[in-house]
Amino acid sequence: MENNQSKLRLGVNIDHVATVRNARGGAYPDPLRAALLAEKAGADGITAHLREDRRHITDTDIEALMDGLSVPLNFEMAATEEMQKIALRHKPHAVCIVPEKREERTTEGGLNVAREENKLAHFIAPLHDAGCRVSIFIAAEMKHIEAAHRIGADIIELHVGPYCDAFTEGRFDVSDVELERLREMSAFAHELGLEIHAGHGITYDTVKPIAAFPEVMELNIGHFLIGEAIFDGLENTIVKMRTLMDEARA
Ligand code: PXP
Repeated sequence: MENNQSKLRLGVNIDHVATVRNARGGAYPDPLRAALLAEKAGADGITAHLREDRRHITDTDIEALMDGLSVPLNFEMAATEEMQKIALRHKPHAVCIVPEKREERTTEGGLNVAREENKLAHFIAPLHDAGCRVSIFIAAEMKHIEAAHRIGADIIELHVGPYCDAFTEGRFDVSDVELERLREMSAFAHELGLEIHAGHGITYDTVKPIAAFPEVMELNIGHFLIGEAIFDGLENTIVKMRTLMDEARA
C-alpha cells in the first residue's frame, strides 16, 4: 500500500456498522464482514475508532479486524494510557490520535498538538518503537502542523469537516474559504515532509476538490458510505466513491 505514491488511498471507516449492531446489542451487522466487503470493493485500508465509552467499535472488533483483514488497519484512538496499551498489544499498521470527549456525537475539531506538544511527543514514542505509523488528526492550522512535525508524527490527517459541512449546508462562501485553507496547509505540510491524509464529513458531493490536492495521500471516509449503503449496497457505494476519487486525481 505504501509503494504506489501517486495513488490516492481510500480508508473505509466501519464504526457505524457497529453503531447499528449496538442499537440492538446483538451480533449483526458484523463490522468485520463490512470491512472484508470494503476490501473487496477496493478499500486500501480500514479505519476503526475504539472510543473510551465503546459506543460503536469494541475491543473484540479490534481483535477480529487485526486477525481478519488483509489491508492495513488504521486504529483511531484518544491519547490515553488505556488506548496506548491496546495499540501496543495489537501493533496495527497505523494509529491515528484524535481528541475525544464523552459527550460529543462525533469527533469535534482536531487535536490541539500545539498545546499538548510535550505530552504527545512522549505518548507517540512507544507506538513508533512498536512499528506503528503515527497519524495526528488536526485542524488545518499552521501551528498544529508545525507541532505535529516537531513531535515526529509520520502523518497528519486534516480535519475537512468545516469544508464538507459548509458545502453540504450550502454555505459556499465559507466552504470556499475552508477549501483554500486546506489547499494551502496541504502544501505547507508536504514541504515539511509530512504525509497528508484527510477525513471527516466527506460525501460524493465534497470528495472531488479534496481528492484533487496532489499532496493528499489518503481519505478516510465512514458515515456517508455506511449511510448510503442502505440504499445502494456497500460495495456499489465504495466503488462509486473510489471512481470519484480517481476522476478527481486524473
Ligand atoms: N477521520 C477521523 C480522524 C475521524 O475521527 C472520523 C470520524 O470518526 C473520520 C475520519 C470519518 O469521518 P466520517 O465518518 O464523517 O466520514
